[in-house]
Formats: sequence, C-alpha cells, structure tokens
Amino acid sequence: MNTQRYRDRRVYVTGGSSGIGLSAARQFFRLGADVLIFARSPEMLQRVAGEIDHHRVSQDQRISWRVMDVSIREQVNAEVLEAVGEFGIPDIVINSAGQSYSQYFEQTTPEIFDSLIQTNLYGTWNVLSSLVPFMKTSGGHIVTVSSIAGLLGVFGYSAYGASKFAVVGLSQSLRDELLPYGIRVSVLCPPDTDTPMLERENLTKPPETTALSAGAGIMSPNDVARAMITGMEKGRFIILPGFEAKGIHLLYRLVPGLVEKIIQYQIARAQKGS
Ligand SMILES: NC(=O)c1ccc[n+]([C@@H]2O[C@H](COP(=O)([O-])OP(=O)(O)OC[C@H]3O[C@@H](n4cnc5c(N)ncnc54)[C@H](OP(=O)(O)O)[C@@H]3O)[C@@H](O)[C@H]2O)c1
Repeated sequence: MNTQRYRDRRVYVTGGSSGIGLSAARQFFRLGADVLIFARSPEMLQRVAGEIDHHRVSQDQRISWRVMDVSIREQVNAEVLEAVGEFGIPDIVINSAGQSYSQYFEQTTPEIFDSLIQTNLYGTWNVLSSLVPFMKTSGGHIVTVSSIAGLLGVFGYSAYGASKFAVVGLSQSLRDELLPYGIRVSVLCPPDTDTPMLERENLTKPPETTALSAGAGIMSPNDVARAMITGMEKGRFIILPGFEAKGIHLLYRLVPGLVEKIIQYQIARAQKGS
C-alpha cells in the first residue's frame, strides 16, 4: 500500500462516523490524506476520529470532525463555510450520510418518506450546493452514495428507492456540468452492506425484500470503501462494488424483461412461504 498516495489531499466525508463513510474516512487517512468527517452525533464523531487517528502515516496529517445535519440547509451552509476556512477546500467529497427504510408501500408513512428524501436527496443537494462553488476553483472528485436500489426499483424500497434514484439523476447532471471545472463525479451503488443501517432496516423489511436481497450478496463496509476508491481512481461514474451487484446491473441493462421475470418469481415464492 502506498501510504503517501493521498498526501496533502483534503477529504470531506459526510456520514463519516459509521458504516461505509467511516471505512472510507479510515482508508483515505491510511493513504495519507487529511480527513474531515461530518455527522450529527458529536460523541460518535469524537470517538471514531480518535480511532482513525491510530492509522496516521505522517506527523502532520489531520483528522478532524464537525457536527452537521445534512438535511438542514442553513446549518450545512454555515458549517461548510467554517470547514473550508479552517480545513481548506476539499479535493475529495464523499456524501455517505444517509438513512434507509424498508417496508410495504402502504406502511411507509409520509413522515418516513419526507425524512428519507430530506436526508438522502436534499442532504446530498445541500452539501454539494455549498461546496461546488469552492471546488470550482481547484477541481476535485465528488462521490455521491446511492444504492443498487437507486438503479433498479426493488420491492419494499418505495421511499428509499425514490430517494436513491434521485441521487443518481442528480449525479449524472453534475458529472457533465462540473467536468469543465476539473471536478469528477462518481456515484457509489453498493449492495447490502454490513453496517448499523442494515441492522435497523432489517427490523421492518418485508420477507419479499429479504428474499430479493439475498441474491445480491452482502459486503463489508471496508470492501465497499476499497471498491469505491479503486472505482474513483479508474474514473468510473457508476461504482458497483462486488461481483453480484455488477452482474445484476449488467443483466438488467441487457435483458430487463428476463430480470423482471426472475424478480417476480422470487417475490411469488417468498409470498407462498410466508
Ligand atoms: N448499508 C447498506 O446496506 C447500504 C447499501 C447501499 C447504500 N447504502 C448507503 O450508504 C450510505 C451509508 O450507509 P451506512 O450503511 O454506512 O449507514 P450507517 O452505518 O447508519 O451510517 C450513516 C452515517 O450517516 C450519518 N447521518 C445519518 N443521517 C444524517 C444526517 N441527517 N446528517 C448528517 N449525517 C447523518 C450517521 O451519523 P449520525 O446518525 O450521528 O448523524 C452515520 O455517520 C447511505 O447513504 C446508505 O443509503 C448503504
């Protein structure tokens, strides 16, 4: 591992206190970057920043944290302004802050829908609309975090899928708009990943969704973060970690009718079993 590969590069990670964001923050730090993590809980941020610090590869490297709720635009604007002043304009931004929910459509309340859209879509919009004007002066790489459920509508993810499809559309527009400024955009679309979010999601997940998810495998957050960094370095727009996720996406693009039939068969089988 080249521990100086990201030396003097500044990396901002929203949702950096847990799961995929935490793994990404830790891996960039181990590759020599200065890392600033954001989330809502100061206790978690402080704890994980201390843990990340154990991975330092140079004396002058910085790991820092800030409390920020990505869904509150005014707070994001204020925090980003202060962060840029203190830490510097980021070279890399990972938008991992997010929330999930899996349930039948009719049991998904409007409040839950609002909350997912506020965090996943508005959250991404808020962070990027605050940071892009700064990044246009120096270039960089933005990664948004969607999901396999942002590329293929999945039973039980009506609210989550809607928020994550929107993130893909936003990212695709930004990719072309920001290219002239030397800012690359990638969208990470992981399959199920073993994080606290998945644990919470499993509490309400319909059996049909569980049956479908089984086909896409489950990854560790470290493997997802590693795949993300490799995908960024290869200049990929859509980054699909894992063999199963890549296979499903490719098959869906080539033979969507066949994939839909297989999905409907799996749903019917799960419904017979329940
Ligand atoms: N795990 C999966 O199976 C999976 C699969 C595909 C995609 N993803 C996506 O990957 C991303 C990370 O998920 P994860 O599994 O790593 O989840 P996680 O372990 O629950 O971590 C979520 C992180 O986001 C922060 N966060 C949540 N709401 C926030 C808000 N409003 N403002 C600021 N920070 C907020 C959390 O900290 P606080 O609560 O302290 O704010 C935490 O740091 C999400 O966008 C998720 O949709 C996950």
